[in-house]
Amino acid sequence: MAEAALDLRHLPKSEAYGVLCREIQQVLAGISDDVTGMATISCLVASAFGHLWVGFYRVVERDRLLRVGPYQGSLGCLEIAFGKGVCGTAARERRTVIVEDVDRFPGHISCDARSRSEIVVPVFNAAGELIAVLDVDSARRAAFDEIDKTGLEEIVRWFSQVPAS
Ligand code: SME
Repeated sequence: MAEAALDLRHLPKSEAYGVLCREIQQVLAGISDDVTGMATISCLVASAFGHLWVGFYRVVERDRLLRVGPYQGSLGCLEIAFGKGVCGTAARERRTVIVEDVDRFPGHISCDARSRSEIVVPVFNAAGELIAVLDVDSARRAAFDEIDKTGLEEIVRWFSQVPAS
């Protein structure tokens, strides 16, 4: 296991995601527990890029309600309805949502006033059911692009490799 979470900000972003994906696979090898996966991925993604907030909102009522799960950052709001904010939109539409400027996203839910941009990625289990979304917030405007989308979607594929318990 790696001794400490890696800071990958010195690398080009696509290369950083390659290293990060391998680190996550290594650290979580042999684990099949969603909460452990969420906590570990939150820590490793936050450490790799120094983002403001990285964490998961879990589906607790199918197609209705998300509730906060493991995260790194300041206090997150506890519950988000499907369709509300960036997280609720990604959950309802089951697709990654990139917001370059949170002030221009109608209905954005502000948990940390320093947040300027955001990406939210849907998380599916092995049966293809939506189990959570991964929310990453940055203090920089337009911090996220297609490289982040591809990289984070690859990272959350870990949850579809975990056999349902
Ligand atoms: N900004 C998110 C809410 C969650 S927090 O930022 C941690 C949203 O609009 O869904």
